[in-house]
Parts: sequence; structure tokens; C-alpha cells
Amino acid sequence: MCGIIGFTGITEAADILINGLASLEYRGYDSAGIALVQDNNTKIIKTTGKVADLRDKVTATDNTYGTCGIGHTRWATHGGVTETNAHPHQTPKLTLVHNGIIENYKELADDLATKGLTPVSETDTEIAALLIDSLYNGDPFEALREADKILEGAYGFCVMFNDRPGVIYSMRNASPLVVTHTADGSYIGSDVIALIPYSKDYFVVPEEHIVVLEKGAVTLYTMDEQVVEPKMLHVDWDTTAAQKGGYDFFMQKEIYDQPEAVKNTILPRIHNGKVDFSADKINDELFEGVNRVIVTACGTAMHSGLVGRSIIEQLCRIPVTVEIASEFRYMNPIMDEHTLVVIITQSGETADSLAALRLANERGAKTISIVNVKGSSIARESDYVLYTHAGPEIAVASTKAFTVQCCGMYLITLKLAEVMGILTDEEIADYLARFVAATETIPAVLEMDEYIQSIAYKIKDTFSAFYIGRGLDHAFGCEGSLKLKEISYVNSEAYNAGELKHGTISLVTEGVPIIAIATQDHVFSKTMANVEEVKARGAHVILITDVTEEEGGYAGLYDDLILVPKCDDFFGGFATTVAMQILAYHTTVYRGYNVDQPRNLAKSVTVE
Ligand code: G6P
Repeated sequence: MCGIIGFTGITEAADILINGLASLEYRGYDSAGIALVQDNNTKIIKTTGKVADLRDKVTATDNTYGTCGIGHTRWATHGGVTETNAHPHQTPKLTLVHNGIIENYKELADDLATKGLTPVSETDTEIAALLIDSLYNGDPFEALREADKILEGAYGFCVMFNDRPGVIYSMRNASPLVVTHTADGSYIGSDVIALIPYSKDYFVVPEEHIVVLEKGAVTLYTMDEQVVEPKMLHVDWDTTAAQKGGYDFFMQKEIYDQPEAVKNTILPRIHNGKVDFSADKINDELFEGVNRVIVTACGTAMHSGLVGRSIIEQLCRIPVTVEIASEFRYMNPIMDEHTLVVIITQSGETADSLAALRLANERGAKTISIVNVKGSSIARESDYVLYTHAGPEIAVASTKAFTVQCCGMYLITLKLAEVMGILTDEEIADYLARFVAATETIPAVLEMDEYIQSIAYKIKDTFSAFYIGRGLDHAFGCEGSLKLKEISYVNSEAYNAGELKHGTISLVTEGVPIIAIATQDHVFSKTMANVEEVKARGAHVILITDVTEEEGGYAGLYDDLILVPKCDDFFGGFATTVAMQILAYHTTVYRGYNVDQPRNLAKSVTVE
């Protein structure tokens, strides 16, 4: 949700800034811009559209020199997609880029207007810039410290004061910022992806701190100007992991990354037939005395929570609720020290998930997060963190992050069952063997890519589609439906198969695609009965199942069949998920849309 980059050093900044923005474009692609410090002037080049458009504009502009600059790729919140609203924003004393939302910008704007400071854009960001400008009397620390007290909302800022050429000041509240330094200079960005071409060692800017970037050094200060040592982190993947590697889109690559991502997430945590969280420093005591679980997350991550609910309730027999994080903090949720709150998040920075975690911490619940990005805010603030090892996920539509989040939920469930004394050692070993086997079905589904593509061709012109299934199949179906909807713009919804006839079946007309997922043995015949109902109304049924036609006796009930490898009833879903991802991917390609950058979306939603 908006990407920020900054560089000051001994080499030219323009390319560094634009390349950084290109790698951060998943965070927003409404407009982009850079500011370069040149002699006594700061030159701004910005445009609506993508980073590629900015690159063209910069190439066509004379004199783009300068070894210090900041850049921004925008996901519009306040103010439409116009060049005036694009960042960087400039005031008489400074130039600034911002990621986040300033919640009290209206009252600040009124106040600033009385001092003769009026914005030219419609953005909350320019109000923050004007505020800092009004507080600046030659001391950047004082201006930022005072602004920090006044501003409400989420922000990550990079500020260049006109009278301090070559220096970038930065501070943040909620919105992520990471920093590195090399012999060439100092770099700051919203995500480590923008820094790894230069260094694999970095630090996360802590909240309530100010970082000062100069060409020769990066210094981290507390708000009252005490120098502190940053806590360095190391990335264990390299630039190739954040490239398409021959695939047409990042999403396609990430679908194919899944066998590896799943192995990396599961295998190090299985020792001697048990779930072993010792390397994660997750103590058994976290699971002791738990009588209730709340899973909270957004989007795709929330769907892995639905999977979690189904399996924890089945196995551990304790109640589990799955709460959408944006609702959680406003519903006065019931929790105590016996409640385990699981926050699931790829980025670790989703504003609503972070707020949900903070509330759970405040209320004394036990918290564990399942996070992909190391050192992110949610990882740092939860009692325990279980990192997924998907590597960088760039496509806005999440694929490999989802499968590894489900793996995380399975691992937690089995550990909980062990600590609660529900399973014997032999049973745990058996469950784990079945778990690993279930994930090993993924490569076989990847081999069905071309076949699934041929099915995508048949549904490419549809206006709507419905995903139906029961139990775990429904949980995975929710994710399958979201995949199709968010990238192909097909009006797609997932329903519990039995619920369809209580309303939605009225939308089923001749040729409407119904993706029916039927892998759960105990409800297979029930789901097939629902398939009969939609088939009778002319639906185009795409049946995804692990039951052969001979075993299932469903001849004539489908138009297209995706027969996946045998799925375990408890661990099923890995194979069907991958089939649904491939279906969504190819449908989108046929419809001619940019798979990786669906309209209006951003990968990392750091605002409420
Ligand atoms: C956005 C992304 C989704 C993601 C959701 C939660 O909506 O487009 O792909 O599932 O945020 O993100 P998180 O980083 O918390 O998993």
C-alpha cells in the first residue's frame, strides 16, 4: 500500500530509485514519482500510471542527475489518481514521500490554512508535509518529533529538507520501512525487496525513532536524539527469488514455487515423528490451558484461518472462531489468558491484523502469528511467531503464501493436539506422515496445468461463477473463489454447497460455471446431490475431486472434471487449491488482464 524508496550516496540516484519502485510496485500502481536533489534545487518528476511510465518520463527528461533522492509508488487513498496527487510532495522547506493514512488531516488542514499554508493536492500527505514544514525552524529532529505528537494514523515518511542537501530523514508509525548501508551509500525502502540488489543485511526502522541517511552512514536515533544500535537482520534469499525466472507472471512462478515453499516450511519442524518448534522458540506452555482459539486475519490469510478452524475443532474439540481483522477490534471480542489468538499474515504489516494483535495482547490473550516476512511488525509484537518460508511473494494475488499458511495452521493444530494429550505419539507420527503426503500431491496438479488451461478457456467469458463445497472443501473453495474474482474480475462467490439453494441458486442459469469441490468422504454424496441440483439448472459444472467417476458414480453430472490425486480427508485441500489457482490464472490471462497487478488492489494493506 504505497511503496517508498530513498537513496543518498556517491552514485547517481535516479536509476536506483526507479528500480526500487519497480520492485515495490506490488504495493500500489496508481502513480509514481521521484525527487532528486540537484545543486540548490530539488527536481520532481512524477506521473500517473505505472513505474514503467515514470521510467519513460525520466528518460525523456533532461538533467536527471543527483546522488540523493526519494521515490514513491502510490495506491490512492485520499484524492484521485492525478499527477498533482502523486508523491513526492513539496513545500517551501522540504520534499516528502509518505506511506499510510493521516487520519486527522482535515482538522490539520483547517489549522494550517489559518497560517496561510494551503495544499495544492487533495492528499493527506501534503497536509503532513505542510505540518512538518510549519514546525521546521532548522532542527529536523524537533520538527519530526513535534509532528509525531500531532499526527494521527499510519505513516512512514522520508523527508528531505531543502537546507540539508544529501540527507534523508525518516520516521514511521505502523507503515514499514527498512534500511541498509553499503560503500555506495544509504538506502531506505518499504520492503527489503528494494534493498537486496545492494545488500542482504538490513534493519527495520523501529517505531518512535528517527533514522538519518547520509552518504557515509546511517544513524538511528530515539525521538529525543539518543543514538541507538539498529537490530540487524539478514535475508536468506537473493534477487533471483524476487524475479519472474522465465515465467510470464509472478503469480505463475509463485504457483510453481509451492512444492519448495511447503517443504521449507514443514520439514524443518518435523523431528522424530513430532512437531518440533524448538528452533522457533515456541514453548509448549503457549498451548497449555488453551480452551479457545481465535484466528484473525485479512483476505487470503483469513481463508487459511477457515482451514484452521475446521481442523482444530475436528481434532482438538475446542471452539475456534475466525474473525476478519478489520472487524475484530470493533466487536469487543471475548478473550482471556486461556484464549490462543492466531494472527495470520504474509506481510506482517497489514494494519487491521496488527491492530487485532495489539488488542489481543492488551486483553491478555496468548498470541502467535504465522508470518512470511521476517522482522515485520506483527512478527515482532506477537508472543510467538511461526515463520512461513515461502520466500518473497510479489503477485498481489496470494498463492504460495496461502499454502504455507495452511501448513502453519496444521503444524499448530498437531502441536496443540499433542500438548492437550489428544493424540498418542504413534498417532502424531501417523498424522505427520499423512500431512507430508498430502502436500506431495502438489507437483502432480502442476502437471495438469495445460489441461486446466483448456477448462479456463471455456469459462473465460463468464460474468459470474460460484464455488461450492462442504467443510474443508468449502474453506479451500473460499480461497479459490477469491483468486478468480480478484484477478479476472469474474463476479465469483463461494458457498457452502448446501446453502446454495437458499438464495444463490436463483443466479444459476444456463452455462454459469459452478466449481464444485468434493474431496471430503463423509459429505461426498451430499455435495454431489447439490451438484445435481445446479446441473439440472444448466450450470457448467467443473468438478474438482479425488474420487474417480467409477468410485463416485457421478457420470453425467459434470462438464469438466479435474481429478486430483487422492486427498486425505483431514489434510485435503493442497491439491484442489493449486488446481483452483491455475484455473484463476489462465482465465485471467485469456481475459487479457495484468495477472500480477489487478485493478484497485495492493498487496500490502498498511492502512485501515
Ligand atoms: C491484501 C492482499 C491479499 C492478502 C491480504 C492480507 O488484500 O491483496 O493477497 O491476503 O492483503 O495480507 P497479509 O499480508 O496480512 O497476509
